[in-house]
Amino acid sequence: MSEKKTQTCDGPVGPIDWGEIEHWDRSYYLHNVQAQAEYVFTGVERTDGNYLYLADGTRLLDFQSQLVSDSMGHRHPKVHAEIKRAMGRYGHVFFGLATDYRARAAKIVIEDILGGEKGWAGRVRFLSSGSEGVECALAMARLYTGRPVILTQAHSFHGMTIGATQLRGYRGNITPAESPDEIRDVPGFPGPGIVAIPAPEFHDWEGAGPLPSLVATERIIQDVGPENIAAVITETMLGAAGYLPHDRYLVELYGLSRKYDFLWIDDEVMCGFGRLGDWFSYQGYDGIEPDLMPIGKSINGCALPVGGVVASRPIAEYFDRARWWSGSTNDGHALVCASIVGNLETMIEEDIIARIRRLSPYLEAKLRDVGRRHACVGRIAGRGFYFCVDLVDAAGNPIVAEDRDTGFVGDIASHPNHVIARECAKRGLYLGGFVPNTIKVAPPFTITEEEIDFGIGVFDEALAVIDRQIGINRSRA
Ligand SMILES: Cc1ncc(COP(=O)(O)O)c(C=O)c1O
Repeated sequence: MSEKKTQTCDGPVGPIDWGEIEHWDRSYYLHNVQAQAEYVFTGVERTDGNYLYLADGTRLLDFQSQLVSDSMGHRHPKVHAEIKRAMGRYGHVFFGLATDYRARAAKIVIEDILGGEKGWAGRVRFLSSGSEGVECALAMARLYTGRPVILTQAHSFHGMTIGATQLRGYRGNITPAESPDEIRDVPGFPGPGIVAIPAPEFHDWEGAGPLPSLVATERIIQDVGPENIAAVITETMLGAAGYLPHDRYLVELYGLSRKYDFLWIDDEVMCGFGRLGDWFSYQGYDGIEPDLMPIGKSINGCALPVGGVVASRPIAEYFDRARWWSGSTNDGHALVCASIVGNLETMIEEDIIARIRRLSPYLEAKLRDVGRRHACVGRIAGRGFYFCVDLVDAAGNPIVAEDRDTGFVGDIASHPNHVIARECAKRGLYLGGFVPNTIKVAPPFTITEEEIDFGIGVFDEALAVIDRQIGINRSRA
C-alpha cells in the first residue's frame, strides 16, 4: 500500500490508499475478460507521455498504446491544454445546439484531412465509442439501401454493442422528407440480418489464382441475393485477430461491392488516423473509397471517450433530406470535440504521419532482427506503427492450436500472449496480445528511437522465455 502523494500537473494529491482501492475495485466493479476469481488487480497511479506508472512504483513503457488506441502518448500536453481551455466555457451541450469545437473538429476531418469538395466524404458525426460509430454505420447503410443484410468477415472485431437499433422504442427509424407521415424502420428490424463471410488470407498467402476467401464470398453474395445486401464491413488490418490480410484482398472485396451494388463500410476505428502510416488505412490501396467509415481511438488518442462515423457525399445528402430519429445524449460532446481539435491540430502541425513513416522501417527492421533470433517467432506483418508477431512451436505451428479460433477456454494464463505480457511487465514494458499466439506491437506515435530500442530489447528477453517453453514442449513430445 502506497502512502505517498501522487504528483499531478496541478500539484500533489492523496495519499491514495491502494489497499482500499483494490478492495473496492474487486468488490464492486463489473470487470471485463477475466472471471472475478482470476482477476489480476493492476492499479495505475498515473499516465504520462509514453509511460504508465503503476501503484506499486513500476514504470511501464507503453508499447501497445493500450488498446492500439492512445496514439499520441498519454495526456499529451497540447490535447489536454485544449480540453482545459474548453472546460473554461463548456460542460455538456446536447446535439441540438452547436459548439465551435464540434464544427472545428468536423471541418478538420472532412476538409483538412479528407480533402473537402475534392474528396469522397460528406459529413461526420462524433459519438462516444467506436462501437457506436459502427452501430451508426450499420443503421445508415440499411436505411440508405433499404436492405437488411450486412456481410462481416470471420475473425473481425467491430465493437461490443449488440445492435441497439434492433430494440423497440427510439430505435434509429427514419421519416423521409418526401413522405413525412411514413415511419421507415432500419430494415431487418427486429431481426439480426448479419451474414458471415470467410476471413481474409494472410498477407503471405502464396496460392495461385483468385483468393479462396473471395471466391467463397462471391458465392455467399449470390446465395443471399445482392438485392438483400446493404453493405460489407471490413477491418484493414485485423485488430483483435491481429493480422494483415493479403494485399489483393481489400481491393478485390471492394470490387465485389461495386459489381453487386452494395456499400462498403470501412471500419477505421483502430487503423485510422495514422496507425498504418496513412491518415486512413484504405489510402494504402489504389482506387478504393469508403461509403461509410466508423472512426474512433486515434482521433483523440482516447483522451476522452470517442467514436464517430464519416458518410460519403451521396449518403450524407440522403440523410440531409430526411429527419433521422437518431442521436445519443453525448453526441458531439463539446469536451470530446475539443480533444479531437487539440489532437488533430497537433498531428497536422507536427506532421505526425511523416514521423510514423520515418520511424516505421526502424521499428520493423528491429522486430525482424529480433524475430530471426528466436525459434518461437513465426510470421511478422504490419505497416506504419502496427505490427503483429505470431508465436509458433518447434514445428512452426501455432503454439495454442486453436489460434485465432480460440474460445478462450482452459488455462489462458499460460498462453504465450500472457507469458509475454508478464515477462515484459517485469522488465518495464507494456506489451501483449488478445488471441493466444499473437503479440501486437503498436507503440504511440510519439515514441523515440531509444524507446523503440528499449522495447525491442525487453521483447527479445521475453521471447527467450517462450523459446525455452517450446523447447520443453518438444522434449515432452
Ligand atoms: C476495428 C474496431 N472497430 C470497432 C471497435 C470498437 O470501438 P470501441 O471499443 O471504442 O467501442 C474497435 C475496438 O477495439 C475496433 O478495433
